[in-house]
Amino acid sequence: MTIVSPSLLSADFGHLAEELDMINRSEADWLHIDVMDGVFVPNISFGFPVLKHVAKLCRKPLDVHLMIVDPERYIDEVKALGTKIMNVHYEACRHIHRVVQQIRAAGMSPAVTLNPGTPVCVLKDIIGDVDMVLLMSVNPGFGGQKFIEHTLLKVAELKALIAETGSKALIEVDGGVNAETGARLVEAGAQALVAGNYVFSSKEPEKVIAGLKRL
Ligand code: DX5
Ligand code: ZN
Repeated sequence: MTIVSPSLLSADFGHLAEELDMINRSEADWLHIDVMDGVFVPNISFGFPVLKHVAKLCRKPLDVHLMIVDPERYIDEVKALGTKIMNVHYEACRHIHRVVQQIRAAGMSPAVTLNPGTPVCVLKDIIGDVDMVLLMSVNPGFGGQKFIEHTLLKVAELKALIAETGSKALIEVDGGVNAETGARLVEAGAQALVAGNYVFSSKEPEKVIAGLKRL
């Protein structure tokens, strides 16, 4: 079954506890957490003082997607949330290899994210060291954007790179995911899907999550 990681960015922040109750009741595997700094991406979302409370209320492992420059500055804060996955952007790290090792040494699963304009081949020398690759299927910064079709080719390329190198990295995709784009992504080789707007704008979010799991 597909791993489903609903993105908190599209939740109703005025009713965060209820939204997290829904996630806890649902078949979601992880909760996707989009941290933005207003520098790497043109938006600011939420920071660690808020996430401390989210981590307390959420029973699902956190899939933390850091859209911030030099994310290694926050390894301790991310770890303190009890996080399973720390996801950093290739484009936001000066020394991606070192950062991946630092995340592993801190006891978390390192994941590397690529923007739509970054080719899969840049991962060649680190693919054996990461537990997951997140391909952005929109430019990061906002929920509710249109899926970029070219991502399907990147999923296939990444799948081939993983097979060639014997890496165990999972393939996750984030941005514009719904039942239709999700089905095509799974067919291309995606194993984990992030969905924000599609889940939280629904009147029946638990059903939507269950549907994504069965793609
Ligand atoms: C965008 C974020 C996404 C976002 C996805 O920068 O990384 O996780 O929440 O939202 P949807 O699923 O609405 O495209
Ligand atoms: Zn994200």
